[in-house]
Amino acid sequence: MNATSNRGMWGSRLGFVLAASGSAVGLGNIWKFPYITGEYGGGAFVLIYLFCILLVGLPIMYAELLMGKVTQKDPVGAFKYLQGTNSSWQIVGWMGVISAFVILSFYSVVAGWSMAFVARSAVGAINYDMGVEAVKGLFTALYEDPFEQIFWHLMFMIMVVGIVSGGVKKGIERWSEILMPGLILLLLVLMGFAMTLEGFREGVRFMFSADFSQVTPPAVLEALGHSFFTLSLGMGAMITYGSYLPEDANIPRGGMWIVILDTGIALLAGLIIFPIVFTFDLESGAGPGLIFSTLPVAFAQLPAGGILSAAFFVLLGFAALSSAISLLEVAVAFFHDELGWDRRLAAVGLGAVVFLLGIPSAAYGQFFDFMDNLSTNYLLPLGGLGVSVYAGWVMDREDMNGAFGGKLGDNVMRIWLLIIKFVTPFLVLLVFLNKIGVIKV
Ligand code: PHE
Repeated sequence: MNATSNRGMWGSRLGFVLAASGSAVGLGNIWKFPYITGEYGGGAFVLIYLFCILLVGLPIMYAELLMGKVTQKDPVGAFKYLQGTNSSWQIVGWMGVISAFVILSFYSVVAGWSMAFVARSAVGAINYDMGVEAVKGLFTALYEDPFEQIFWHLMFMIMVVGIVSGGVKKGIERWSEILMPGLILLLLVLMGFAMTLEGFREGVRFMFSADFSQVTPPAVLEALGHSFFTLSLGMGAMITYGSYLPEDANIPRGGMWIVILDTGIALLAGLIIFPIVFTFDLESGAGPGLIFSTLPVAFAQLPAGGILSAAFFVLLGFAALSSAISLLEVAVAFFHDELGWDRRLAAVGLGAVVFLLGIPSAAYGQFFDFMDNLSTNYLLPLGGLGVSVYAGWVMDREDMNGAFGGKLGDNVMRIWLLIIKFVTPFLVLLVFLNKIGVIKV
């Protein structure tokens, strides 16, 4: 058996789309998108975000899937394969592997919060008429208890390791086929509930009516950084998932589905959360605690609140799990392909490292913010810049055409090339230079 055939491969097209959209749809959609939309004032932010998805996210999505499919390698191996073992392009891949550790370490802590809330809902700790302060106190108490956070972080990492150890088809794909439909079902149920609320119209208006005075440089920055995060771009997750695609895979179609599902689910999450926020007079700009400290307030005022709240946090846990496995998979693929480690050993060993790395995030809010900021605002945009410059300016056209396999029409291909060459890298660079203060917009 050669190195390629024991790496694993997706079993079906649908399985790939579910796994890759499972990677994309995560805490970014349900936890982060609503709270940053709330902080930046709603509709205008949503509009900028949609532009970023179209001009930056989608083109890079294609580039990453393409690089994975051509090389059938992990992110570092992909650059080595294309540019030679000594090429400095592999730094982009290395940054991806590092980002996987950084992101997963704090991501798992947040996923742990949602498990903690499932447990609280299940034992009836979020109940009818318990008083606003008491409900808000639930999150504060959790946030101030590092041991409980570390406990749930550990539970979550054990699940992630268990799934990734199972392999590409029998672990990741099989679980994505359960988690994604489950998530969509729960979302639709909660959406049905949100539509019955009196604040529904106001929620819709908040999300879709744009007030352009809110379009500030920080809002654009945030939207751009988030478009990488939410689509799992800039760190090699899509290179890795693309590397398990068979020869005849259709990248344009698959990539488009991933982006549509990710964006659709983020909007749906907003349409569930904001009506609740407005109906119960909660604070839309409450920040990271939005869904943990304000939403339970609403749940506690409803007769069936415990069940709704359990449903909501199970949904969040599902979304987090299918993303977390893709983060660990980037590191596992690297240790397997480049260093010859056994997959199971890599999953357990690297999972343990991530667990340790997450402990300071569970204990210190500032460390958590540092890891979040480092990955979302620096590592991912830089990685995305690397991929788009590489795909636009360096990558061999033959390889590229081969990977698209004639599935992208000539004209669309030309447009994609123009965008990935001239638009995407410059937008990312502009925003990045502004971020580190080199230029002031
Ligand atoms: N896309 C995931 C989310 O929205 C996060 C993620 C980032 C996953 C990078 C993998 C790689 O929650």
